[in-house]
Amino acid sequence: VYHIASTTAPVNIATLKYWGKRDKALNLPTNSSISVTLSQEDLRTLTSAATGPELKQDKLWLNGKEESLESERTQQCLKGLRKLRKELEDKDSNLPKFSNWGLHIVSENNFPTAAGLASSAAGFAALVVAIARLYQLPQSMSELSEIARQGSGSACRSLFGGYVAWEMGEKEDGSDSKAVEISPLEHWPQMKAAILVVNASKKDTPSTSGMQLTVKTSELFQERVKNVVPQRFTHMKEAIEHKNWPKFAELTMKDSNSFHATCLDSYPPIFYMNDTSKKIIKLCHAINEFYGKTVVAYTFDAGPNAVLYYLQENEAKLFAFIYKLFDKVPGWETKFSNQDLQEFL
Ligand code: DP6
Repeated sequence: VYHIASTTAPVNIATLKYWGKRDKALNLPTNSSISVTLSQEDLRTLTSAATGPELKQDKLWLNGKEESLESERTQQCLKGLRKLRKELEDKDSNLPKFSNWGLHIVSENNFPTAAGLASSAAGFAALVVAIARLYQLPQSMSELSEIARQGSGSACRSLFGGYVAWEMGEKEDGSDSKAVEISPLEHWPQMKAAILVVNASKKDTPSTSGMQLTVKTSELFQERVKNVVPQRFTHMKEAIEHKNWPKFAELTMKDSNSFHATCLDSYPPIFYMNDTSKKIIKLCHAINEFYGKTVVAYTFDAGPNAVLYYLQENEAKLFAFIYKLFDKVPGWETKFSNQDLQEFL
C-alpha cells in the first residue's frame, strides 16, 4: 500500500537579490530579499512523493531520469521533514510510521531545463511541500520555508505565489529566516513578466560559490548589505503594496545593477551578464526614455538571461521594440538613440 501526495511550485525571480550567506551550513543570508513568482501555468515544477512499508530506500526521478538524492542539501531537507513527521507519530501511536519508510519522489518541470532558468528554487520548494503533504504536517508554509531554504536559499520564496519576502532573520539557529507573503498575485494583476533567453547553457560560476567569493572579497558588498538593501527592502515592499509601478521598476533595475556590481567587485571578478545582456539594459532605458515614462524594468540573476517586468497596458509598446530589434540580431546597435527607436515604430 502506497501513500501519495503531489504539489506544484512556481519559479520565482528576485527583484531584490539574495546574494551572500552568513551561515553556509544552515543557508542563512546576509540580507533580506524579495521576489515575484511567475505564473504557474508557464513555469513550475510538479512533484509527487510516495511512501509505503515496502520502500526501503529514498529515490528520485527528475524529468524521467533517476537522479541521486545524496547531496547534503537534499539530505538536510529530508531529515527536517522526517523529524517533523516523527514528532506527530510520537504524539499519536495510531499514525503509520512514515518516518521509517523510504520515499519515492517524481519531479517534472514544465519548462525546458535548457531555458537557462534556475530550476532549483521551484524544485526544492515542490519537494518539501509534496513530502509535507504526504506526511500531513501541520506546519505553515512559512515554517516549511525554513526547510526549503536549506535546499536552496531562493527556494524558500517559491512556497508562495505572488510577491514574497525572505526575511533574513537574526537568530543563529535560523528559526526566524523564512519566507512571508507580501501580496498575492491577484493584488497586482496588471504585472507581467517576459524572459529573454540570451544563452541557454549552464552558468559559469554557480551561485553558491559566487556569493561566497563576493562575501569574502568585495568591499562594495559590505556597503550593499549595510547601507543599501535594508532601506530598499522597505521601499520595495511599499511600492508593491501601493502598486507604485515606476518605483517598483526603478528599485528592481537598481538592485539588479547593484548585485552585478558586487560580482564585478569580487576578486577575481565574476561576470554573469554578457554583451547582449548589456544591450538589453540599454534598450530598456532607451524605451523608457522614448515614451517618457516607465514601460519596462529588467533584472538579471546569476546568468546572462533577462527577465523583463512590465504592465499589461504597455505590452504592445514594449514588444514593438523587442520583436523588431531582435530581428536585427546580430547587428544590434550598442547605443539606441530616440531617433533609432523612432525608426522601428
Ligand atoms: C542571483 O538560491 O541558487 O538568483 O542558496 O546557494 O542555493 P543557494 O543559492 P541560490 O541563489 C540565488 C541567487 C540569485 C538571487 C535570488 O534568487 O535572490
